[in-house]
Amino acid sequence: MAVQSVESSTDSAAADSPASSASAAFGPAVALSCRECGERFDLGPIFACVSCFGPLEVAYDLPSGDPEGLRRQIEAGPDNIWRYAPLLPVPADVATLPSLRPGFTQLVKADRLARELGITGELHVKDDSGNPTHSFKDRVVAIAVQAARTFGFTTLSCSSTGNLAGAVGAAAARSGFRSCVFIPHDLEAGKVVMAAVYGGDLVGIEGTYDDVNRFCSELIGDPVGEGWGFVNVNLRPYYGEGSKTLAYEMCEQLGWRLPDQIVIPIASGSQLTKIDKGLKELIALGLVEDKPYKIFGAQAEGCSPVSTAFKAGHDVVRPQKPNTIAKSLAIGNPADGPYVLDIARRTGGAVEDVTDEQVVDAIKLLARTEGIFAETAGGVTVGVTKKLIEDGLLDPSLTTVVLNTGDGLKTLDAVAPTTGPSAIIRPTLDSFREAGLA
Ligand SMILES: Cc1ncc(COP(=O)(O)O)c(C=O)c1O
Ligand SMILES: [Zn+2]
Repeated sequence: MAVQSVESSTDSAAADSPASSASAAFGPAVALSCRECGERFDLGPIFACVSCFGPLEVAYDLPSGDPEGLRRQIEAGPDNIWRYAPLLPVPADVATLPSLRPGFTQLVKADRLARELGITGELHVKDDSGNPTHSFKDRVVAIAVQAARTFGFTTLSCSSTGNLAGAVGAAAARSGFRSCVFIPHDLEAGKVVMAAVYGGDLVGIEGTYDDVNRFCSELIGDPVGEGWGFVNVNLRPYYGEGSKTLAYEMCEQLGWRLPDQIVIPIASGSQLTKIDKGLKELIALGLVEDKPYKIFGAQAEGCSPVSTAFKAGHDVVRPQKPNTIAKSLAIGNPADGPYVLDIARRTGGAVEDVTDEQVVDAIKLLARTEGIFAETAGGVTVGVTKKLIEDGLLDPSLTTVVLNTGDGLKTLDAVAPTTGPSAIIRPTLDSFREAGLA
């Protein structure tokens, strides 16, 4: 099978470096490439370009020339993200190695929600609450773990808004790493318990996520952090690639079709940028037809640095101090913010935000219409979808995919004040009749 780079900016460099030069541990990945200046580096535990400090991402020689064969190979693979191993920086036999085996979550055709929102085309909810630790973070961690193993790290770590800490704790337990994860001290109880229960160390830091992240960067440069793989810092190029599997899955589950519009939550913005990367790869490989798609980003008003920049027409994202119930999205200084702006503008999408009240309403709307209990991040995407339709920015006649990236059981406090029993009765028929529910 011929090999060909699918990264337009780096085609010639990729053509010069045959796939065989990459370590077998990274499958089709051949290098790390700077997203700013394009300089290439050997695959390693590095994340910033030495020339311009730009972020690095994985570059590939992907298998091209036989889309039918590749499609068949993927379809014959396991019901988890490892079916896409030919497109990921992991060894070909990755499915046999210890991992939580996340992915291939349900794509729910959401007809009742569509009716409520006035959508006449197809509406689908990609429900990632079905992952092993109930958020999409299991995808990104699974790839980072493979890299951590190859680089000989013994401790897995991260800075987290909650879900990532749980995903790292669980993956470390399954894969035999020690873990030590860092979170803001004031997260939801469900997130704290999940991050602690797998037996690794959990450290609450007095500060925001941005303080936690800064602290982790310092730790990497210190002898204390030697042998530590921070999945979203020094392993970030590999970690990010896990989100491509959301793009692959939604297209495969649509019958190898691209959606027209996708609504994605934004914290650091990594997930959104990698879904776009995944869609571009599928087009370049001939696995889906080459047609335009629009990417929409979703934030909570109380932490909306990217939507604020989008609406103001700025290229630079000004940091904010978060204050929202959508704590999983509470990153005030998002690393991938400028790339999100580029993608939303290039694809003809937008970045929008909703109030905490709208988040709660949207969580309940999704639960009532589709039986999906989303965490606050899912309330953000559903709420933003509603707003985008009302504002005429999202076309209700097209095929739309909305992401639910986490489970409502982790953010019970958001809905508890306005949700509860319809009645409390004595165990008698009379009492039930009196409650007026018969
Ligand atoms: C449930 C959930 N959805 C979405 C995101 C956003 O991820 P990203 O930082 O890749 O934008 C997060 C990040 O923590 C999350 O926990
Ligand atoms: Zn560079």
